[in-house]
This record gives sequence, C-alpha cells and structure tokens, in this order.
Amino acid sequence: MEQIKNEKQMIAYGKKLARELKPGNILCLSGELGTGKTTLTKGIAHGLGIKSEVLSPTFTLMNVLPIKDKKIKNLVHIDTYRLKDEEELLDIGVLDYLGAPDTICIIEWPEKIKNLLKDKRVKKIKIKHSDAGRDIKII
Ligand SMILES: Nc1ncnc2c1ncn2[C@@H]1O[C@H](COP(=O)(O)OP(=O)(O)OP(=O)(O)O)[C@@H](O)[C@H]1O
Ligand SMILES: [Mg+2]
Repeated sequence: MEQIKNEKQMIAYGKKLARELKPGNILCLSGELGTGKTTLTKGIAHGLGIKSEVLSPTFTLMNVLPIKDKKIKNLVHIDTYRLKDEEELLDIGVLDYLGAPDTICIIEWPEKIKNLLKDKRVKKIKIKHSDAGRDIKII
C-alpha cells in the first residue's frame, strides 16, 4: 500500500508504474468517484511517452492513444461508468484491444464488464480516499 498525497504524486506514481507494464497487460483501476483513476492513467500515459492530453473517456467509453517508437502500439483507456451494457463496448471494437499483444489497456470501473474480463488475465489496482489523500494498492 502506498499513500499518495496529491495529484502530482499520483502522476509520478503512474509514470513509475508505466515502466512495469508490458504489452498485452490489462490494468483494472477500482475506486470510487474522484479517487484519481484518470489521474493515474495520465501518469502512465506520460510514462509511456504519450504527449497528447489524456481526457477521461466517460462519454466516449474508450480512447485509443497511439504510442510512437515502442513495442507497444496503443494505450487503450476505457471508462465504463456510463456503459449501459457490455454490447456497447463490443460494438466499438473492444475485443481488438483487450489483451492484444501490442496494446496496454487501462479500465476504470472494471466491475461493470466482469463478463468481458472473466477469461482474461488482469492486473488490479485499488484506490481509496484516505486522510493522507489517497491509498493505492496493487492487488
Ligand atoms: N492524492 C490524489 N491523487 C489523485 N487525485 C487527487 C488526489 N488528491 C486530490 N485529487 C484530486 O481528485 C481528482 C481525481 O480525479 P480523477 O478524474 O482522476 O478521478 P477518477 O477516479 O478518474 O474519477 P471518476 O470516477 O469520475 O472517473 C482530481 O481533481 C485531483 O486533483
Ligand atoms: Mg475517471
């Protein structure tokens, strides 16, 4: 468990975490509203060399962020908060990316797509509000 005091530290944690991620990884970020899932994703994106702004995919459901000069072709950022059913993600081609050997996927609210993930190997991170800011735990 690690304590993250502010947004800047969350970005830094994400940058560090990016070094441990491998193509094909699926990273599930659990935590209540506003715990910093998107902020952590921004840090990971920076760490992977992505220069463009990372916007929350709350309405788009899935953002594909291309990565240059790496074995990893895309960082795919998924947010299921507003998802009605899993079909909606299937319709926009999520299976092209989930676990694909040239892609890293990050999923906010992974609990909502349990069925899509049940036969995939995932890494889990849990973020909680705490007195110090946020507690972050790799499960
Ligand atoms: N220790 C911290 N780590 C990350 N963010 C923090 C921290 N302390 C305060 N914040 C603030 O909390 C907010 C986190 O927002 P963010 O969009 O990253 O959360 P989220 O978990 O993605 O929310 P949502 O569930 O709505 O998608 C930011 O405004 C950030 O400035
Ligand atoms: Mg978010």
